[in-house]
Parts: sequence; C-alpha cells; structure tokens
Amino acid sequence: MNEFGKFIVVCGTEGSGKTTAVKRLMSSDLKDSFVDSREPGGSKGGEDIRKFIFANPDLHTEARFHLFWAARKDHWNTLILPALKSGKHVICDRFDCCTYAFQCYGEEHVHLQNIFRTIREDMFPSWKVEWRPQYIHFDLPPLVGLGRKIADGDRNFFDDEQLAFHERVRRGYEEFGKLFPVKRLNADQDPEMVWRDFRTNVEKILV
Ligand code: TMP
Repeated sequence: MNEFGKFIVVCGTEGSGKTTAVKRLMSSDLKDSFVDSREPGGSKGGEDIRKFIFANPDLHTEARFHLFWAARKDHWNTLILPALKSGKHVICDRFDCCTYAFQCYGEEHVHLQNIFRTIREDMFPSWKVEWRPQYIHFDLPPLVGLGRKIADGDRNFFDDEQLAFHERVRRGYEEFGKLFPVKRLNADQDPEMVWRDFRTNVEKILV
C-alpha cells in the first residue's frame, strides 16, 4: 500500500449507479484497503448538517451552499484526512463537484463559482498531490437516471425538481470537468459494463 491513501470521488446524475458501484467495491477483494463515505455526511457533524439541509428545503441557496462546505470541512478533517494519512484509500459518494453542479448550475447561482474556487483553495491548503480528489463522473441522460432513482424510493427535494434542473446539473459536471481533471464514465450501459469500467478506473488510480 502507498504511504498515503488515494482519495476517489464518484459523482453523477441521480440514479447513475455510482452508489451501487461503491457498495460493490466495498464487498470486493479491494474492500480492506478502502474506507467508504458520502456527502453531505460522512462524519458525525457532516451527517447532522445533512439532516438539517434536507429538513429545510426553503433555505436560501447561498446558505445551503455554505452548509455543504461546512459539512465537507468536518468530513475532511475528522474522517477523510485521518484515513488517507493512515494509508487507507477513501471512496466518497459525492464531494465538491456536486456543490458546483447543483448549487452553481442546478440552482442557477453561477455567481457562486468564484467563491467556490476561493473556499476550495482556502479550505484545503493541506492538499498534497497524493490527496487530491480523483473524480469519476458517472454520466447519463437525467431522464434515464431519474426513472431509476424513483424506482429506488430514496428521494430528496432535488429529485422533485424538473428535468431542466437535472440537465443543468449535468452541464455543471461538464463545466467542473473543465476546471479539474475528471474521468467520465458512460453510465448509460449495462450495469455489468458500468461496474467493469468503474473497477478499471479505480485500479488505474491505485497504481
Ligand atoms: P444522496 O446522498 O441521496 O445522493 O443525496 C444528496 C443530494 O444532495 C443529491 O441530490 C445531491 C445534493 N448535493 C448538493 O446539492 N450539493 C452538494 O454539495 C452535495 C454533496 C450534494
């Protein structure tokens, strides 16, 4: 194992299969070298903030934007960073890519882009090259993903948004990919193929 663990982030359209892929990774032969987590949430503070966010759908977008960052800071300091330092890899279901996609694009607060970058740089001065998030984007048309997510029965208020919202989120992920290196994975294919592509990507990151 490397001295430090790798930090892998999965993001993507609702219902894209990323959560299933993480669960499968955590029951595979690689499971012992990984800690899995999610955002918003992960740590005790992060999960408390998650509950607050989803119990308060009428919050102003800018307040929600900062809450996602607050949850992230607690998550990073108390769970992710200690795990990476101990040599464990961390696989995280969503991270800052989602703030960019959902709040800046989905919620149409594009002016938050600048503060996004400032907070990101300020919040993670400790980012060593090895700890930088390695993003994998499970990409598929929102219409396909939303149908799957509804079938899951696991919903939050973003799922009730119109298709146009989710199209903007998808565009947000594309824009994020212009700023930071993101590996795009075609999630609009057979689940077995999605898993295979995901696993291949993970293995490349771990090399
Ligand atoms: P999930 O855990 O079921 O995927 O739900 C998390 C929801 O929160 C999902 O709709 C995406 C959204 N979200 C944001 O709007 N901004 C963020 O920064 C993050 C991490 C998630």
